[in-house]
Amino acid sequence: MNFSITVLPGDGIGPDVVSEAVKVMNAVGGRFGHSFDAEYGRVGGNAIDDFGTPLPDETVEMCRETDGILFGAVGGPKWDDPRAPTRPEDGILAIRKSLGLFANLRPVKVYPQLINSSPIKPHLLEGVDMIIVRELTGGLYFGKPKRRWDTSRGRRGVDTLKYTEEEIERILRVGFDLAQGRRKRLTSVDKANVLETGRLWREIATEVGEDYPDVELEHVLVDAASMQLISNPAHFDVIVAENTFGDILTDEASVLAGSMGMLPSASLSGLPKPGARRRPVSLYEPIHGSAPDIAGQGIANPIGTILSMASMLRYSLNLEAEAQAVERSVEGVLAEGYRTPDIAGDGGEVVKTTELGDVIAGRV
Ligand code: IPM
Ligand code: MG
Repeated sequence: MNFSITVLPGDGIGPDVVSEAVKVMNAVGGRFGHSFDAEYGRVGGNAIDDFGTPLPDETVEMCRETDGILFGAVGGPKWDDPRAPTRPEDGILAIRKSLGLFANLRPVKVYPQLINSSPIKPHLLEGVDMIIVRELTGGLYFGKPKRRWDTSRGRRGVDTLKYTEEEIERILRVGFDLAQGRRKRLTSVDKANVLETGRLWREIATEVGEDYPDVELEHVLVDAASMQLISNPAHFDVIVAENTFGDILTDEASVLAGSMGMLPSASLSGLPKPGARRRPVSLYEPIHGSAPDIAGQGIANPIGTILSMASMLRYSLNLEAEAQAVERSVEGVLAEGYRTPDIAGDGGEVVKTTELGDVIAGRV
């Protein structure tokens, strides 16, 4: 089959890791007889420099007419001025919003070979296998008003945490649907002891849960959830959380996996309907940022991006066997001892970003 893929490398290590994912994607093409036509677009700080906007219209067009979007990372110190009218991050936020990608799936898997790359005690990491479902187009990130202004009594700023019933219900349904195909436990994260949106979230979670009697629903306050994620991570199966809470909890969860560089994500406008031929456009990106301090040095870990590409094969292109081939290849290469510096806690052979991409592609 022929597919057209929009590739948005972005800033910092974005290009370093995305080129390895494209390499592995092409290896999948060779092995399974597909062709992937990669079209490159601009986003982030480099687009601000050249076009005055982090998300040129042309990039948005490319994102609408494609079979899948592979995204790297955006941001960097060059564009960090708090007074700047626009930021690189606005680029990714606008893509998520304009394509309606409200469901961000962030699976957290601990590879046995990387247990000693994590600062968490090994016995706590046994059996860790969860998926964090982050609401991605609402909540504190997008609520209005959102602005800064000067007053006679000093500067002020406001962000707004706002949700509609529909937004909360649809993200919880994604979580429940996923839980049904897994260990059937759903942890709904909120701050219902303080926030009105938290109480609304909890109420709706309970109501939606009635449609899923086989799934065990628990409500956990976000502060407690962040503690349990470290003290008893194997407890969790599917976690559903507000946008900001999900952002914070997933960086925390990456510590379990040994490195930020390991975690993939898929941003969807809902779970794909079984049997549907044409799937809505979705975006795939690692959870890590642009790590400008190590950009271009050949030491970035491409695995989170390669696994994101595998999710693209699964969710957007309906290529399950191909997705599994990539995942098995990553496992195999880790078992053989290939490492980037961030996951070299147990020794192994430290190789460059491109070499790790080569061996993963070679094993597909
Ligand atoms: C993430 C990142 C982004 C976010 C940034 C780069 C805007 O931290 O995908 O987790 O906050 O969503
Ligand atoms: Mg984040």
